[in-house]
Amino acid sequence: MSVTVRVPAKVNVQLAVGAARPDGFHDLANVFLAVGLYDEVTVTPADGLRITCEGPDAAQVPLDRTNLAARAAIALAERRGIEPDVHVHIAKDIPVAGGMAGGSADGAGALLACDRLWGTGASRAELLAICAELGSDVPFSLVGGAALGVGRGERLTALEVGGTFHWVFAMADRGLSTPAVFREFDRLAEGRRIPEPVASAELVAALAKGDAEALAAAVSNDLQPAALSLFPELADTLAAGRGAGALAALVSGSGPTTAFLTRDAESAEKVAGALRASGTCRAVRTAGGPVAGATVV
Ligand code: C5P
Repeated sequence: MSVTVRVPAKVNVQLAVGAARPDGFHDLANVFLAVGLYDEVTVTPADGLRITCEGPDAAQVPLDRTNLAARAAIALAERRGIEPDVHVHIAKDIPVAGGMAGGSADGAGALLACDRLWGTGASRAELLAICAELGSDVPFSLVGGAALGVGRGERLTALEVGGTFHWVFAMADRGLSTPAVFREFDRLAEGRRIPEPVASAELVAALAKGDAEALAAAVSNDLQPAALSLFPELADTLAAGRGAGALAALVSGSGPTTAFLTRDAESAEKVAGALRASGTCRAVRTAGGPVAGATVV
């Protein structure tokens, strides 16, 4: 018997970052949108905990207990006083170290899958609490849709979305480490007063209306200067997408995946073609959002 859970990637349409806190984290106003690029996590009973991964980026995925999927299985098993004797297989389509919450998706997916497999009957609230322990973006991977995350990004409020937004994602030829990007943010911020992060009212209204042009005018990412500082070539990718008619071009989360908002599906294909031809990225994908969060299939 096995259980498979499908979990989407995310793009941050707003990522407002506050000053570093004493615990090293940053307070955020983080507006997440789940988009239709998915990892599938399958759990099967086994003699011990084992992680395997398939997909184009599989070689970069750690298969030890640092993998968020392993940590999720262990966290749930510990709470129930059982052994995490499970084989977790990840079919990976979300870019690794890309700023699209691929690792978080696997954590949320493994948690939901193990809960079903073991019949542990965790409530939504308990699942969300475990997700928040695993990482700042993991609760959103569970719930999907669109949401504002505050605190570390883990305290979520669902947001209304009035339509589908069409995106193009350009994958870079190397990853960026999230802690390194936050450290670069701190370095660039030295000596400056960092305002409290707040969600943009214009952005929330644009989401609710399903208005791509208004959303394009409102998107922002405070980590973008830090990501560009560590990975300057991303500026060429952003310029190529803008030049091809994207309504907005931004780094996704801590990067280095770049995200392009387009008017409609047809325009997304055009921007995707231009990005592929530009030679400024490793791979290009289109995806719409919002989509549902972690779902048993
Ligand atoms: O929570 P998560 O494990 O995903 O965070 C990864 C790293 O990103 C943290 O160790 C920290 O360096 C940085 N981070 C942060 N502030 C946040 C979320 C993440 O500084 N709100």
